[in-house]
Amino acid sequence: MTQPSGQGPALDNLHTESRTFPPSAEFAAQANATSKLYDDASADRDAFWAAQADRLDWDTKWGQVLDWSEAPFAKWFVGGKLNVAYNCVDRHVESGHGDQVAIHWVGEPGDKRTITYNDLKREVSKAANALVSLGLETGDRVAIYMPMVPEAIFSILAVARLGATHSVVFAGFSAEALRTRIDDASAKIVITTDGQYRRGKPVSLKAAVDEAVAQTPSVTNVLVVKRTESDVDWVEGRDVWWHDVVDAQSDSHTPEAFDSEHPLFILYTSGTTGKPKGILHTTGGYLTQAAYTHHNVFDLKPDTDVYWCTADIGWVTGHSYIVYGPLANRVTQVVYEGTPNTPHEGRHWEIVQEYGVSIYYTAPTLIRTFMKWGDDIPAKYDLSSLRVLGSVGEPINPEAWIWYREHIGAGKAPIVDTWWQTETGAIMISPLPGVISTKPGSAQRPLPGIGAKVVDEQGVEVAHGGGGYLVLDQPWPAMLRGIWGDEERFRDTYWSRFAEEGFYFAGDGAKYDADGDIWLLGRVDDVMNVSGHRISTTEVESALVSHPTVAEAAVVGASDATTGQGIVAFVILRGGVADSASGAEAIKALREHVAKEIGPIAKPRQIMVVPELPKTRSGKIMRRLLKDVAENRQVGDVTTLADSSVMDLISSGLKGSS
Ligand code: WT7
Repeated sequence: MTQPSGQGPALDNLHTESRTFPPSAEFAAQANATSKLYDDASADRDAFWAAQADRLDWDTKWGQVLDWSEAPFAKWFVGGKLNVAYNCVDRHVESGHGDQVAIHWVGEPGDKRTITYNDLKREVSKAANALVSLGLETGDRVAIYMPMVPEAIFSILAVARLGATHSVVFAGFSAEALRTRIDDASAKIVITTDGQYRRGKPVSLKAAVDEAVAQTPSVTNVLVVKRTESDVDWVEGRDVWWHDVVDAQSDSHTPEAFDSEHPLFILYTSGTTGKPKGILHTTGGYLTQAAYTHHNVFDLKPDTDVYWCTADIGWVTGHSYIVYGPLANRVTQVVYEGTPNTPHEGRHWEIVQEYGVSIYYTAPTLIRTFMKWGDDIPAKYDLSSLRVLGSVGEPINPEAWIWYREHIGAGKAPIVDTWWQTETGAIMISPLPGVISTKPGSAQRPLPGIGAKVVDEQGVEVAHGGGGYLVLDQPWPAMLRGIWGDEERFRDTYWSRFAEEGFYFAGDGAKYDADGDIWLLGRVDDVMNVSGHRISTTEVESALVSHPTVAEAAVVGASDATTGQGIVAFVILRGGVADSASGAEAIKALREHVAKEIGPIAKPRQIMVVPELPKTRSGKIMRRLLKDVAENRQVGDVTTLADSSVMDLISSGLKGSS
């Protein structure tokens, strides 16, 4: 494990940043959160979480709040029973809000759909009935591989309604990535679309499913939504159209209550090895924390706010802050299908203006992209409806934070910088708007009910001003309940580093400032953060070496002004190929190959052909030195290299950089 080190744009000025922005009196006066939350949570954590669980409708009330006797496997709200989809949909209809808009959906080409809670209830019920007709049973897994169409949300909720388990796979992942995820979870049904719009053009999606499912015996049916009218191959008996099967169903379905610890979803995320981890989340605790955080961190007022989270449902942010938290809280939200610059760079602001979006939640990489596109673009639109702004995915550099505040938030909307992970299920560290004075670049402090600390190598909390590792020292309701099918990896990855102390090791470096506020400093493992997406160096290396021209590969995350980190690969080509193909062609082929193996998001920004890789005597690649090269720095200490001249060879002989 390396010490957290400065990682470029996200961290410039971080050490000198000292501005704070207190909430306005008007905001504070109307805020959902008050400082009492902190007092209540520290007075009695269990009672605090019990009160939060009362946000939900339970069929059977729980007994114990937390059973931690089999740590690190938690049970929250023990014995309680509920239906998640009922909580996100039906109960709002029953309380008289059936006509409230749940989703203002905006398609990339400009088509629109307005979905009320009445509509949502009918669509989810039909989809649930359709899945039953296809033989889906409680506990079965369903892979969802879809763009941001309303049916993706209907599908997620229909699966949850039946007590089956969804595994959403980002539609930007390759057929191969989809195949391994379907296989790992033995999914029975795959839900997809014929195609998806990408920057104005329809591209096929079903073809990737065909390729994946040809090798996954667990799949009995592929349910296909028609979105782009793309040509599709059809396997009779296996493939069924959504408009045939779902539309024919009854729009009423009676939800059954499931145990509080019933599995809800699996979501794969990159770890330090090449194999993605299937993070498992369950029902009662997850929904409690998703709803509680969404209510307080975004200050949601269900009767008046229009909320928009720009994430994709393929990531955990889409699960917790498009689907579960917001819908449990009876949100009215915008869901946008496309990219932010289709057909023009003001698309997001045009949507904010049209729908009067009041809460906007996005990622630093996109904020930096907006900065690059120019201040004049948001200035053309009326953004005065915006009153809370959120950030997630990576540390936000103070420059981007200030720009966000000034140019999007009119110098007054509070910014909530929310730290959490796929594993934590919901927000863990964030200022509470209206309560905490915000600081550009800092996620600040654990939410009421959450325990987080910065500790040193020995697990001892560091003093204010000190740095070390971020740990979570108390179980939390939305915590992962394991890695699908791999208990040992679950214990090893998160619970072995500080086993004696019983801390969850998050994998992030962090520090306290003089006020005791937490600043996140990036990953301390071999995981890169590219545009807020976690990608493991090993995964990209395995993809590269699976190409016939590559003998060896080493990958590092180099600081990148827009994406936070960019993927930089160093490759040794096989004898014979090296001379003829070290140019642009070979590199292009390798980038395409990585896209095919993992997905376009994993394409290296840069591939450098090198004669050797720096290794220790025991054969471990010293990525630290490659990172120096990738970031154009003086190469650091080379004394532990087996051959200390290797770095000279690499630096002087670099050719074929793209
Ligand atoms: C990793 C988790 C949580 C949804 C999106 C990413 C980094 C996330 C922040 C933040 C600094 C952040 C961490 C974390 N991260 N939010 N506000 N400030 N870093 O989920 O793919 O599971 O990645 O993202 O490094 O460990 P994920």
